[in-house]
Amino acid sequence: MKVSEAVLARRSVRAFLPTPVPRSLLEEVLAKAARAPSGGNLQPWRIYVVSGEPLARFKAQAAQAVRQSPMGEAPLEYDIYPKSLKAPYRDYRFKNGEDLYATLGLARENKFARLGWFANNFQFFGAPVGLFCLVDRQMGPPQWSDLGMYLQSLMLLLREAGVDSCPQECWSIIHKTVRSFLAAPEELMLFCGMAIGYENPAAPVSRMRAERAPLQDFCRFID
Ligand SMILES: Cc1cc2nc3c(=O)[nH]c(=O)nc-3n(C[C@H](O)[C@H](O)[C@H](O)COP(=O)(O)O)c2cc1C
Repeated sequence: MKVSEAVLARRSVRAFLPTPVPRSLLEEVLAKAARAPSGGNLQPWRIYVVSGEPLARFKAQAAQAVRQSPMGEAPLEYDIYPKSLKAPYRDYRFKNGEDLYATLGLARENKFARLGWFANNFQFFGAPVGLFCLVDRQMGPPQWSDLGMYLQSLMLLLREAGVDSCPQECWSIIHKTVRSFLAAPEELMLFCGMAIGYENPAAPVSRMRAERAPLQDFCRFID
């Protein structure tokens, strides 16, 4: 698979088959993704991978945590989005949500069903593997951007191996439950999770395709 093919084929998959992903494949792509660049070669990504019985146990805890703290476990460690998101970012976000719920056939008034669907996030959308990306609290925005490079490299390598994924910031709202399950040291902060597995192509949400702004909206050539 060419890089371009992997880039175009990667999407956030939100319905998975229970088919397990071989541990050897995971080890290979997780190690290869660490070829991602990072400022000063700090390699700030800290990764936890959960599957099998521990994942089933964790999902039960996560479901309970979300029921108990639907607004998140206070204090939240970071804002997923800026507090008053401005245009055009606000419009992109709004459209993405509306497109997703339209794919699912859930109207705006149907808040309850929309919330119910959102809860699937906390089951890793049925994926057999759940990954968490943490970072030392000492790190700042430059190192957080390095996490993105690692995670995109990982998702492209997974695609090359025929495996799907969905990055998930939503896990940060139950950071306490995640930290305690992982027994992660206090110095590490949770950035995001990622569902990993094989897409269930029959699920309605699998028809979702997120659009992108055209080049001229975000790029200027000075020449
Ligand atoms: C860091 C990060 C966190 C994300 N968190 C979530 C999430 O919690 N739940 C979710 O359904 N999608 C999440 N997404 C997926 C985005 O909504 C998705 O990447 C975007 O809409 C573009 O769609 P595409 O990935 O299918 O191209 C996240 C993406 C990134 C990069």
